[in-house]
Amino acid sequence: MLSGMRPTGKVHLGNYLGALDNWVRLQDDHDCFFFVANWHALTTDPANSVEAPANTLEMAADWLGAGLDPQRSTLFIQSQIPEHAELHLLFSMVTPVGWLERVPTYKEMVDQLGLESPSYGLLGYPLLQAADILMYKPQWVPVGMDQVPHVELTREVARRFNSTWRPVFPEPQAKLTEIPKVPGTDGRKMSKSYDNAIYLSDSSEEIAAKVRPMMTDPARKRRSDPGTPDLCPVFDLHRIFTPEADREACAVGCRTAGIGCLDCKGVLLKHLLPPLGEIRERRRRFAERPGEVLEVLHEGSRRARAMARQTMEEVRGVVGLEP
Ligand code: TRP
Ligand code: SF4
Repeated sequence: MLSGMRPTGKVHLGNYLGALDNWVRLQDDHDCFFFVANWHALTTDPANSVEAPANTLEMAADWLGAGLDPQRSTLFIQSQIPEHAELHLLFSMVTPVGWLERVPTYKEMVDQLGLESPSYGLLGYPLLQAADILMYKPQWVPVGMDQVPHVELTREVARRFNSTWRPVFPEPQAKLTEIPKVPGTDGRKMSKSYDNAIYLSDSSEEIAAKVRPMMTDPARKRRSDPGTPDLCPVFDLHRIFTPEADREACAVGCRTAGIGCLDCKGVLLKHLLPPLGEIRERRRRFAERPGEVLEVLHEGSRRARAMARQTMEEVRGVVGLEP
């Protein structure tokens, strides 16, 4: 199993519930590879490279704090395995430009960022991802729905490579993560760029200060107005963190105006703070020892590189360029 995450900085609750939490569970019964996709971070903002080292350490501290276990999973840094770049180059020879232009995330990025002349690197983003994946010949790629087109492209590239030269790559499959709806404090999707996120590194006080003014069902303007939990982002978080009995009590209290929103948020905090506190404490110990975190990533990269070398030996053999 293999998956990656771009080093954009600290992991927030949306990233955690969308991927990391799932990775932690998968390592129990799969041979897992997880990596920092630092080259991918350059596709939209190349000058951002100066922030990559600090972001990588922050993100890796979050990974370890959340429970990724370097004894069981191989945690590595993409750029420490230059073989990914070589495989990407060979893949580029068998990939029609049209395939890449049709990947929905490409168009979205171009529109969203208003790019007038998108880079070759951005167009090639999913092809680099195909190289990341196929290098380790995984059976599964645990990702969210948004990444399915990338895994589909990976399968097509594997087929093209195999038919152009000789069968080398099995076709991996996306393993879809059930991603709960994780709203930010303003009710929109939780996202770093919306400034509405709760981070794994936030203290209990910071989390409480973000949850208390959080957006609720807009129909509940006054304490005496009944509300609709289904229309409330706070309730989306209840669905994830609050056990059924307390959650139902909140739902009834909301519909009958029996409780106020602050009471309801208090119940949420009671269930949200303890699990996040555990992660934060563990993460803090790693964040304080960047040398140790780096050693974990270097050791993982050594292991990953040994596999990548093997794959590339096989690949160079079947491509057969050199006399
Ligand atoms: N594109 C992925 C994302 O944005 C990150 C990624 C890069 C990845 N390479 C990968 C995920 C390989 C899975 C496998 O989330
Ligand atoms: Fe949302 Fe709870 Fe307020 Fe109802 S009582 S609107 S569920 S915060």
